[in-house]
Amino acid sequence: MYRRCRVCEGELREFVDLGRQPTANGFLRPEETDGEYFFRLAAGICTDCAMAQLLDEVPQERRYHGGYRYHASGSAGHRKHFEENALRLLETELTGPDPFIVEIGCNDGVMLSTIARAGVRHLGVEPSTNVAELARARGVDVLTEFFDERTAAGIRSRHGAADVVFGANTICHIAHVASLLRGVDALLAPGGVFVFEEPYLGTITERTAFDQIYDEHVFYFSVTSVRAMAERHGFELVDAERIPLHGGEIRYTLARPGARVPSHAVRELLAEERERGLSDLAALGRFRDRVERVRKDLVTLLRDLRAQGKRVVGYGAPGKSTTVTNYCGIGPDLVPFVCDSTPSKQGHLVPGSHLPVLPPEAFSDPYPDYALLFAWNHADEIMAKERAFRQRGGRWILYVPEVRIV
Ligand code: SAM
Ligand code: TMP
Ligand code: ZN
Repeated sequence: MYRRCRVCEGELREFVDLGRQPTANGFLRPEETDGEYFFRLAAGICTDCAMAQLLDEVPQERRYHGGYRYHASGSAGHRKHFEENALRLLETELTGPDPFIVEIGCNDGVMLSTIARAGVRHLGVEPSTNVAELARARGVDVLTEFFDERTAAGIRSRHGAADVVFGANTICHIAHVASLLRGVDALLAPGGVFVFEEPYLGTITERTAFDQIYDEHVFYFSVTSVRAMAERHGFELVDAERIPLHGGEIRYTLARPGARVPSHAVRELLAEERERGLSDLAALGRFRDRVERVRKDLVTLLRDLRAQGKRVVGYGAPGKSTTVTNYCGIGPDLVPFVCDSTPSKQGHLVPGSHLPVLPPEAFSDPYPDYALLFAWNHADEIMAKERAFRQRGGRWILYVPEVRIV
């Protein structure tokens, strides 16, 4: 267990404990449940630099491998978001004579495929070989390695300096921060930028989105903690922009000190975090109380519906569903199965809670009375797709920011 901050070695204070949990994307076949891996999912905050982080850590090789289940291109919303991201980088940062971009955690190429189509030099660094193959099939150049100082030095010597180092929903997964940032330092051109967009501690606490807490998310960034981390490693935080992905994230831009003028948004968000007391233990304690409340309300609702003979099925099996079902003790007795469009999750069980994952076609065969929406961040897309469910009297159960039926 970590008692000291991974960034600054300050003291960590625990603020939430979500119990014994498996790896969030460790979907398994029904015959593979013996000896399933569990660890204690608890998060703490550094009393010095305010970085929120997990107290116990799952080794990265156990999280990212040839059977990694998360496919970034799984939703139309994400495909559009990352295409727009790529186009924006092409217009703003990748405008020189022979620009070069490196993406840490390119997954199935959801972002870099647009860069590749534009004929711009790029390299994805992606240790999960199965998703790296999908990216290659889209014309993306990929190095199947974990990004660290050593990998970065190799890239620099083979390809030269990068104008942009990009990461999305990946930088907060990397526990070896010092090696990561030394690697970015070695790789980045003098005027280059390190851009990354990650889950936001402010959204997690404001919306009681505790299901964002799982083994892969080692850090829960805030503008305050990212600025401290950047400065410690010789970078300056020059922009911070709220984006809607995964319920509300922040896109951070780091540059070399003095290379860019920091935006007003950085100052504004820092002030907002201070006013909110985002990193205060008292506020985090209130967050923990709300998390417990959601658990009580959700379990009570599901038990009541079962007692009334109603059928409830789950919709979406994101990593988030592992946290919620294991924390709340929701098993197949309360939710007999969950539908998910990701082929590699179908036929498997949600880790720990062992809800069977079926293809989306199972949803209407026949429709349940209620659908528990685990993929709540895709609510608009999913509810539009499944309009007929509601028209026939079906109702959605949401648990973020509180338990309710819509
Ligand atoms: N960027 C995509 C997105 O935003 O949807 C994918 C995010 S996915 C949640 C995280 C990805 O980071 C996985 O594909 C994983 O294999 C990769 N990853 C984890 N640790 C890494 C590391 N040290 N270097 C490079 N990639 C890493
Ligand atoms: P994410 O929130 O981490 O992006 O994961 C969303 C999960 O929900 C992913 O496993 C795919 C699934 N999903 C569906 O099953 N149907 C859908 O229409 C959408 C948008 C997502
Ligand atoms: Zn710290």
